[in-house]
Amino acid sequence: MRKILITGASRGIGKAIALKLLKEGHSISLGVRRKEDLFNTPLDPKSNNPENFVVHSYDATKRESSREWVKSTVNSFKSIDTIIHCAGIFKRTNLIFKDNEIQDIEDLWKVNVMGPWILTKDAWKYLSMNNSARIIVLVSMSGKRSKGSLASYSMSKFALMSLCQTMRNEGWNKGIRVTAICPGWVNTDMAKEVNSFPKEEMTQPNDIANICSNLLNLANSSVPFEIALNCKLETSI
Ligand SMILES: NC(=O)c1ccc[n+]([C@@H]2O[C@H](COP(=O)([O-])OP(=O)(O)OC[C@H]3O[C@@H](n4cnc5c(N)ncnc54)[C@H](OP(=O)(O)O)[C@@H]3O)[C@@H](O)[C@H]2O)c1
Repeated sequence: MRKILITGASRGIGKAIALKLLKEGHSISLGVRRKEDLFNTPLDPKSNNPENFVVHSYDATKRESSREWVKSTVNSFKSIDTIIHCAGIFKRTNLIFKDNEIQDIEDLWKVNVMGPWILTKDAWKYLSMNNSARIIVLVSMSGKRSKGSLASYSMSKFALMSLCQTMRNEGWNKGIRVTAICPGWVNTDMAKEVNSFPKEEMTQPNDIANICSNLLNLANSSVPFEIALNCKLETSI
């Protein structure tokens, strides 16, 4: 059983992954902005065993919160062998953005790129001790090709994909394996304003949770680096 940090588990994909992996018996440490979002849900700290379930404050934009979360998780679990990066934000900032949208671009950079980078850096020492650690990153198809006019979101996800490649390179000899999951639309709050096709035809959060569960059972020699998940046919890639 693994000792897993998960970001973005208050909602959406991260929540589905946390529920699945907790049920499977892994030790789970959730980093969330507001612990109260989990109260009276199956991820409520009060209704789970503190030996294998921890919830800690974590804000991807605050440098210290990642360090403190890692430290507190190691205190509880003695080690960390897996990180699943699900926290992320989405903005529709175009190439020719308005002056008042520059903050959106800076926020995307902080949450989608620097958040996973800093958390990985803070946990690296523990991941390196294990010889079969895993890092799973929710990237996006927007990290593989730039479609439409989502300049800022795509920029952040291409940068995140580059970070994944570096994590793979630098972690390889330590047994750390990295998987970048690249979905199109997933039926969560992030996609709630997408009305161009039915929500039930989107990838569902539980499908991604199943993929994560399977990834954690693979040997070091068989972990895919990238999983592209199209819910609609894209003929140009
Ligand atoms: N949904 C899609 O169509 C889709 C497609 C491709 C890739 N992705 C990627 O998959 C990941 C998960 O997306 P989702 O669909 O589950 O989105 P979601 O339902 O909007 O959830 C986003 C999660 O990120 C957390 N978060 C946002 N800002 C944060 C911050 N500053 N610090 C810590 N946590 C923060 C949110 O916490 P709060 O509850 O506190 O806001 C929430 O738990 C994201 O990286 C997203 O870019 C999503």
